Amino acid sequence: AITRHYTFNVRLQNVTRLCHTKSLVTVNGKFPGPTIFAREDDRVVVKVVNRVQYNVTIHWHGVRQLQSQWADGPAYITQCPIQTGQSYVYNFTIVGQRGTLWWHAHISWLRATLYGPIIILPKKNVPYPFVKPYKELPIIFGEWWNNDTEAVISQALQTGGGPNVSDAYTINGLPGPLYNCSQNETFKLKVKQGQTYLLRLINSALNDELFFSIANHSVTIVEADALYVKPFMTNILLIGPGQTTNVLLKTKHHHPNAQFLMAARPYFTGQGTFDNTTTAGILEYVSSSSSSSSNSSKRPVLIRPTLPAINDTAYVANFSAKFRSLANAQFPANVPQTVDKNFFFTVGLGSNPCPKNQTCQGPNGTKFSASINNISFALPNTAILQSYFSKKSNRVYTTDFPSTPLIPFNYTGTPPNNTMVMNGTKLVVLPFNTSVEIVLQDTSIVGAESHPLHIHGFNFFVVGQGFGNFNPKKDPANYNLVDPVERNTVGVPSGGWVAIRFFADNPGVWFMHCHFEVHLSWGLKMAWVVLDGKLPTQKLPPPPLDLPKC
Ligand code: C2O
Repeated sequence: AITRHYTFNVRLQNVTRLCHTKSLVTVNGKFPGPTIFAREDDRVVVKVVNRVQYNVTIHWHGVRQLQSQWADGPAYITQCPIQTGQSYVYNFTIVGQRGTLWWHAHISWLRATLYGPIIILPKKNVPYPFVKPYKELPIIFGEWWNNDTEAVISQALQTGGGPNVSDAYTINGLPGPLYNCSQNETFKLKVKQGQTYLLRLINSALNDELFFSIANHSVTIVEADALYVKPFMTNILLIGPGQTTNVLLKTKHHHPNAQFLMAARPYFTGQGTFDNTTTAGILEYVSSSSSSSSNSSKRPVLIRPTLPAINDTAYVANFSAKFRSLANAQFPANVPQTVDKNFFFTVGLGSNPCPKNQTCQGPNGTKFSASINNISFALPNTAILQSYFSKKSNRVYTTDFPSTPLIPFNYTGTPPNNTMVMNGTKLVVLPFNTSVEIVLQDTSIVGAESHPLHIHGFNFFVVGQGFGNFNPKKDPANYNLVDPVERNTVGVPSGGWVAIRFFADNPGVWFMHCHFEVHLSWGLKMAWVVLDGKLPTQKLPPPPLDLPKC
């Protein structure tokens, strides 16, 4: 194992898309940002220097941060932000993980433009558990705003505006040919015939789960969230914000006169206006011998894929149910067979009275909020991990997060009038290595909607999912405790529930939240305190000396 050093200069850069030129917050002037490469067991050291007028933090999404809890990155959870002119060195070792992950800003909505891939190769001389690809490359989905993203945030926060307000979705930062004024901003993948390509798909969009398909080609899914899965073929994928999916694309015979669109557009079942536009890249065959160069006198035919309807929840449910852990001798699935601590969390939207002198866009002029068990999580103004580590009594949080909803109701039926959302910085304390089950129940308050729930510091097993209200007497009997998929972000089904299990074997403070940026802002988040274990490696280390101050 070696140490890989990176410097991330966070600075402004002019970028043009859709005929609008904007000054974007970038890393090293790149949009999307640079790729971090490492091998399993390598140490990664990234010096982040803040040269913009905003506070910044970077999160290494999916990296477990074992023994490097202070490098996780969510603002006011594990660290205070890096202020203008300051820097912070994120220093972590990638323990027992390989695959595709990604990094993004974790403060305000800066991740709109501050994001990039993390590619973790297996240890030297360890092959993939699938055919060796001829080439591999990241495909990272994002969004583009003609307006300033800061203006987009204040709209969402103050008025509670609709969540889907970008002007385009993007593939590797490019909107593609289906948008006006975007012909030249199209991602092109030139392939040779009869080869296998590994595409590392990452959904970095702020507020949308996306369907993705390549015209006339199916792909084999081999990995999700940097964990190998039992391979399966599909024509259409769904990928939620925060999720990563590795797929093998086997190219066909040489097609000199065709351009195959690789297209993505949202899956959305919520209320209100939404963006149903499509981003596309182009898959093109290049001839392998220069003598038979393609017949360029003919204009290539553009072939489009078919994507499901924007609200096709049945497709999503079938697709999600196909994922299984590899669960073999080399990559066993360590699924908790018994549970020490059960949680039942409602996740969903709600609304609060509109503050005076404001116009709010929630139902009946109210202001949108979002909550877990009716608690809308409020970030403190110093980092919770620091507050926990200092062992002072005047903590910035309380430890009374409810393990079940305060007042149960028919979650997927007609919602009650008073949904009683309250604000608070409430956490759950877990002894080291507790085996945890969380049932995440979607609610229909202000519309049923799928929520991509992400937990920092852990991967979890998705042991069950279903529609309607979770039934604690019947549903657990159908859990898969043998080879459930393991991941770090899961879609709570629209109008349904999902059950996850994990061992709390990582001491520290760990954020859990909906990976829709708008729901995160509205409060659909909470955090866990995992206590130290007995061994030295099971204890939270002290903070690094350069940890930013608030
Ligand atoms: Cu990818 Cu807390 O986030």
